[in-house]
Amino acid sequence: MYLGRFKQSGFRNLAFLDLEFDPHVNVFLGENAQGKTNLLEAIYFLALSRSHRTSNDREMIAFGQDFASLAGRVHKRQLDLDLRIVISKKGKSAWVNRVEQARLSKYVGHLNAILFSPEDLELVKGAPSLRRRFMDLEFGQINPEYLYFASQYRQLLQQRNNYLKQLARRQASDQVLLGVLTEQVATAASELIWRRYRYLADLNRYAAEAYRAISGQREELRVLYRPSAKEITAADQPAQIKQKLLDRFAEIVDDELRRATTQLGPHRDDLEFQLDGKNAHLFASQGQQRTIALSLKLAEIQLIKQLTGEEPILLLDDVMSELDQNRQAALLDFIHGQTQTFITTTDLDGISQEIVKQPRIFYIHSGQIIEKEEGLNGRRR
Ligand SMILES: Nc1ncnc2c1ncn2[C@@H]1O[C@H](COP(=O)(O)OP(=O)(O)OP(=O)(O)O)[C@@H](O)[C@H]1O
Ligand SMILES: [Mg+2]
Repeated sequence: MYLGRFKQSGFRNLAFLDLEFDPHVNVFLGENAQGKTNLLEAIYFLALSRSHRTSNDREMIAFGQDFASLAGRVHKRQLDLDLRIVISKKGKSAWVNRVEQARLSKYVGHLNAILFSPEDLELVKGAPSLRRRFMDLEFGQINPEYLYFASQYRQLLQQRNNYLKQLARRQASDQVLLGVLTEQVATAASELIWRRYRYLADLNRYAAEAYRAISGQREELRVLYRPSAKEITAADQPAQIKQKLLDRFAEIVDDELRRATTQLGPHRDDLEFQLDGKNAHLFASQGQQRTIALSLKLAEIQLIKQLTGEEPILLLDDVMSELDQNRQAALLDFIHGQTQTFITTTDLDGISQEIVKQPRIFYIHSGQIIEKEEGLNGRRR
């Protein structure tokens, strides 16, 4: 699939835009703080109805404006479709082919996008919340049920936490209600955890392949799910996961009442990356971390292809200059001219000639985007 026409207004510092993207490679060249990341964020938001860098949607509305509007035409093998999403101060609304979608989980997935940014290098050694966010964004866009249960889980978790606080402050005393909330939380949690295991199994396989290809070594990358309820295993069905969660909740009830917050579940789970069986969180070098992060992104492309039969679009924010020639070449191998790619950079010099053989080049300056007519001829050496 690829994104053809793209229109936007009111998104961060971007000027009103009406652009036609290249089905292959689009390069956005501009100095710092001109709007490069904002543009990729806008495209990502059009695809996922979420930003990769903030969970506060209002932040993305241009200063002094009331709403931001993004629209794009997606070309797939069998059909084309129009997507539109509007962020207002009250929330967001989304349309597919001019039909408003009652739920965002019905909207997400029509355009698949993988974004790779320097922050992704934190994925290995950074906070667990980054790895959970990674799973939620990636698995949410390939499975509407995942998105549905994730949003249900968020709401139920909040209710349960609020109720635990009321119990702790003695503003409530009804343990039966707590039991009902626990049951509901455990149901949504089990559906979520079960899907995470399922998609991780595939991701694991592709990531290991990509890691081998990029590193040229025989180091084996493995991605493991680390549930906060340690009894849960990859072989469990949702009903078993739920039961294990309920058993554990029964054990820790006093602790939860004291801390007035839910101690177990998908919001406390984590991923572990291993190289040859060793925890990469502890041992991986900078280069290894970079290769792991890149392998994961490439694995996602494969996973989306496997599940949808379509290539996702790839957004590379300022990462080409961070990758050496070998890693750029590995990336190129994976894309091999089929994946529509958006690259931002402050300088064309860091980018392998091969990748930008015939790109469409745009300049970004103060949120304005202008296409460069003469291709790469003006390239400085
Ligand atoms: N809601 C908003 N309304 C208007 N401008 C915004 C908004 N949010 C961010 N900006 C502005 O957008 C600019 C940053 O744009 P962006 O992050 O896209 O830069 P960039 O080109 O990616 O820079 P770098 O090369 O440093 O990564 C900043 O000047 C910031 O003030
Ligand atoms: Mg940027």
